Amino acid sequence: MLKVEQLSVNYGAVRALDGVDFTLEPGQVLAVLGRNGSGRSTLARALMGLVPGQGRVQWRGRDLLGLPPHTIARCGVGYVPETRDVFALLTVEQNLQLGLADRHRIEWAYATFSQLKLRQHTLAGLLSGGEQQMLSLARSLMAQPDLLIVDEPTEGLAPRWVETVGQVLREQTSRGAAIVLMEQKLDLAPALADRLMVLGRGQVVFAGTLAALQGDPALQQTWLGLD
Ligand SMILES: Nc1ncnc2c1ncn2[C@@H]1O[C@H](COP(=O)(O)OP(=O)(O)O)[C@@H](O)[C@H]1O
Ligand SMILES: [Mg+2]
Repeated sequence: MLKVEQLSVNYGAVRALDGVDFTLEPGQVLAVLGRNGSGRSTLARALMGLVPGQGRVQWRGRDLLGLPPHTIARCGVGYVPETRDVFALLTVEQNLQLGLADRHRIEWAYATFSQLKLRQHTLAGLLSGGEQQMLSLARSLMAQPDLLIVDEPTEGLAPRWVETVGQVLREQTSRGAAIVLMEQKLDLAPALADRLMVLGRGQVVFAGTLAALQGDPALQQTWLGLD
């Protein structure tokens, strides 16, 4: 289980994350929503050890703050950054192999993301943006993480791939993985999230259920820009 207490991040004089608290159980999805600049990616990076944070991040009883990203990854934490994180000069298959996969896992990726199978020997740098995004997700799943942090996984993705991403994330929860899902708007969150959190200027401005969020149009308009 993941326990985050008073997590804060500063970039120089800018306080990008300010006293964030939440917990997450195995098999659960927490959606982290907010406008651009609200601190969602900073939260993702802090959980993964890519930016220094203050406060506490405890995963399965171990303190993660201060550990380097590769150690955090070895604790079973997977991360899909908002920038499509693929090795442009390696083929699709080589990218998947770098995700520590055995043949069985690579075949799983091809069965799940049919587009990647068609492109298996293509250099990742030549893929479309959507294909790169799926490759980045597929690679993060090669090691079957127990905690998955996904930063805007459907941003700019064609609707048919959005559905695939939703199915894949649901599959991860049914094998017991916990997911922190960053989104700008209510995209995959309504179908997937057990709980939602809205960030505004780095602070938690809402935490609760979808019904509670939908019952508060003023909050949605102020912090999500939804009418
Ligand atoms: N590397 C950085 N250096 C300085 N400020 C940053 C950096 N990355 C993000 N910020 C600032 O931190 C705040 C939160 O950004 P971010 O976490 O990327 O938000 P989101 O992912 O919700 O769009 C914004 O004000 C942004 O300008
Ligand atoms: Mg972001």
